[in-house]
Amino acid sequence: MTKTALITGITGQDGSYLAELLLEQKYDVYGLVRRLSTPNTTNITHIVDNIHLVEGDLMDQSSLDTAIQQCRPDEVYNLAAQSFVATSWQQPVLTGEVDALGALRVLEAIRRNKKDCRYYQASSSEMFGKVQETPQNEKTPFYPRSPYGVAKVYAYWATINYRESYEMFCANGILFNHESPRRGIEFVTRKITDAVARIDAGLQKDLRLGNLDAERDWGYAGDYVKAMWKMLQHDSSDDFVIATGEAHSVREFVDLAFKEVGLDYEDYVLVDPKFFRPAEVNFLMGDSSKARNILGWQPEVKFEDLVKMMMKADIERYARKR
Ligand code: NAP
Ligand code: GDD
Repeated sequence: MTKTALITGITGQDGSYLAELLLEQKYDVYGLVRRLSTPNTTNITHIVDNIHLVEGDLMDQSSLDTAIQQCRPDEVYNLAAQSFVATSWQQPVLTGEVDALGALRVLEAIRRNKKDCRYYQASSSEMFGKVQETPQNEKTPFYPRSPYGVAKVYAYWATINYRESYEMFCANGILFNHESPRRGIEFVTRKITDAVARIDAGLQKDLRLGNLDAERDWGYAGDYVKAMWKMLQHDSSDDFVIATGEAHSVREFVDLAFKEVGLDYEDYVLVDPKFFRPAEVNFLMGDSSKARNILGWQPEVKFEDLVKMMMKADIERYARKR
């Protein structure tokens, strides 16, 4: 029987890859989109005729109730969020409203309207923040370092609470950073690959960054959405860390990106205090052995290949523009 899925955040990086995956699996795919003065469907232009878009906003309970009533989903993937950590200090209340209470609103909409629907919550390695052990796994205590991280901890526990209070199928994917050519331009990886491509094309002179020594466990978004899907196919709901198990610094990323166009990053990169955060997460590295053993998931794309993939896409984009 054809399954129906509702994806919140379908216009984002992960939403677009997940929609592709679910279409391949023959799902009937619905995506929640919020009203914007200029619609932002760049990431889903290629599949927009094969999916159904429903209007709604994580700030608005009634729109979520209506979306669940309309779609009658078997699975809901709650990917919508104010997802940029730096902005969460500028807009802490909005971040809490969308990322914390927004998740609760989606859970409530499911409980009231389609309780047997399976729920995926986009939890984050940012919850580990000032890490209490390395590598981080499902049992590592949280120590969030940003309004974003704090909001995600709320949503994480709300997900577990609905599982335990109402016997709903609710899973947390604790995903470490994952990137792709569809990554938003303000996140450090995409900011770097876009800038290097622009410098190579003669459109930009330098690249201003913040903390070059921050380390992240970076994977490929296309690999990570497979883990989301696997979590909802499992026979019981549970929480899983999804990570590569390797940490690399921003400096290593920038070095490799410039090498792709035969340049030395030290000739172009300027450190700008504007991009430092009030409280930094210096290091993240995940242990995803639970997901590997129970779900049979593993990442395919290596760090070096991810940098190459993103560089290639940005170079081609500027070449097309020229
Ligand atoms: P993204 O590209 O920033 O996409 C965020 C999506 O949320 C967009 O579709 C956005 O819609 C939507 N959205 C924002 N506010 C909304 C609201 N009030 N109501 C409805 N939709 C709203 O994020 P992503 O990288 O794909 O990440 C997906 C999820 O995973 C997020 O929850 C993020 O916090 C979490 N996460 C990401 C990573 C990562 O490394 N990428 C790691 C761990 C967890 P518009 O297009 O209208 O802005
Ligand atoms: N964005 C940005 N811009 N980050 C910079 C810069 C810069 O110019 N210079 C250094 N960095 C450092 C940040 O301080 C941070 O330590 C690291 O690069 C990564 O920053 P982001 O790419 O913005 O990602 P993030 O780790 O803060 O958050 C992402 O990953 C989380 C999972 O751990 C987002 O996708 C979150 O939504 C996600 O939950």
